[in-house]
Amino acid sequence: VGPVNDRLIRALRREPVDRTPVWFMRQAGRYLPEYRELRGDRDILDAVRSPAEAVEITLQPLRRMPLDAAILFSDIVVPLVGIGFDFRIEAGRGPVLDDPVRSARDLDRFRPLEPEVDEPFTLEAVRLLTKELEVPLIGFAGAPFTLASYLIEGRPSRTHDQTKAMMFDPFSPWFALADALADLSASYLRAQVDAGAEALQVFDSWAGALSRADYERYVRPSMTRLFDSIADLDVPVIHFGVGTAEFLPSMRHDAVDVVGVDWRLPLDEAWSRLEDGTGNGVGIQGNLDPTACLAPWPVVEERARAVLSAAGGRDGHVFNLGHGVLPETDPATLERLVDLVHTETER
Ligand code: CP3
Repeated sequence: VGPVNDRLIRALRREPVDRTPVWFMRQAGRYLPEYRELRGDRDILDAVRSPAEAVEITLQPLRRMPLDAAILFSDIVVPLVGIGFDFRIEAGRGPVLDDPVRSARDLDRFRPLEPEVDEPFTLEAVRLLTKELEVPLIGFAGAPFTLASYLIEGRPSRTHDQTKAMMFDPFSPWFALADALADLSASYLRAQVDAGAEALQVFDSWAGALSRADYERYVRPSMTRLFDSIADLDVPVIHFGVGTAEFLPSMRHDAVDVVGVDWRLPLDEAWSRLEDGTGNGVGIQGNLDPTACLAPWPVVEERARAVLSAAGGRDGHVFNLGHGVLPETDPATLERLVDLVHTETER
C-alpha cells in the first residue's frame, strides 16, 4: 500500500493532481524551535544515529503544516561516515573532515557501502517512518561533485578550488573518485527504497561552481553511472542542483523524473530549457527564493504566486524553495505558504 496522500508521487510522474504538492528542502531544521530544543548543540550526526530521534525530527514540520512529503532526517555525508570518513558537522558551518582526500592513495579509503551494517539506524528510521506517515517519504543522497567537494576541501568551500584543481588535473584520480561516490550514493539510495522510501532526491548543491562544458566532461559521466544503477527502482527520482541554470538539460537522465531548480531562473524558462529538443517530458521542482521567506508576508505571497503562475498549472510541478529553508525563517511563513499553494492550485 502506498501513502494516503500520493499527490507528490503523482506530480513526480507528471500525472494530474488535485492540488500542487509542496514540501521544503531542510523542512526539518533549525528554523523550528522544537528542533533546536531537541537537538541542543550536539553534532547532528548524533541525532541521525538515533532512529527515534531521526523519526521525531522528520515528523516535526508535518505536525505544523500539511506538507505533501516528508524527507528523511539524515545528511549527505552519512554514507561517507559509514565507510570510515570521520566527518563532523559544525553548527553554522557544515561538514568538516580533518584528513581530506588529496591523492590517488586516498582511493584506498573507499570500500562498498554495506547499508545494513554501516547505516542500520537510517534504514530503521525509514522503516519506522513509512509505517506511520500518510505522505511519501523522500530518501536522498549527495551527488559525486558535491560529496567530492567536502572530501577534498575537508570543509565547506565557496569556490571549490581544490576540487576543481583535482578535476582539471589529467593525472589525478578524479574519475575514479567520482565513480566511487556514484556507487556509494546509489547503494545508499537503493537501501532507502528497500526500507520503504517512496521517492528519491539527489542533491548536487555545489555543481553550479562549474561551467556547462566542465559539468559535461567531468561530472555527467558519474551522474549517468549513478542514475543508470538505480533505474530499476520503482520510485520517482528528483535531481536537484543550485546554480545549474546554464546546464539544466545536462541534468536529465532516463531515470530522472523531475529536475529541481534554484530561484535564478523563472520556472517557465527552466521548463523550456529542459524540454528543448528532446520531446520527452520532465517535471520541475521549485523555486521560491528561500531568502524571500524572510520578507513580510505580502512579499512572500506575491513571489509565491509568481512561481505558481510561471508553472502555469502544468502537470509535473512540485512546489519547493530554490534551496533549503534558512534558519532565520519564521515557521508561520512556511505554514501560510503551504496553505497558499494548496488553495491557489486547487483544480
Ligand atoms: O529536512 C531536510 O532537508 C532533511 C535533512 C537534510 C539535512 N542535510 C539535515 C541537516 C538533508 C536533505 C541534508 C542534505 C545536505 N547536507 C546537503 C544538500 C542539501 C543542501 O542544503 O544543499 C548538503 C550540502 C549538506 C551538508 C551540510 N550539512 C551543510 C552545508 C550543513 C549546514 C551547516 C549549518 O549548520 O548551517 C549541514 C548540517 C545539517 N544537515 C543541518 C541539517 C538540518 C543543520 C545543522 C544543525 O541542525 O545543527
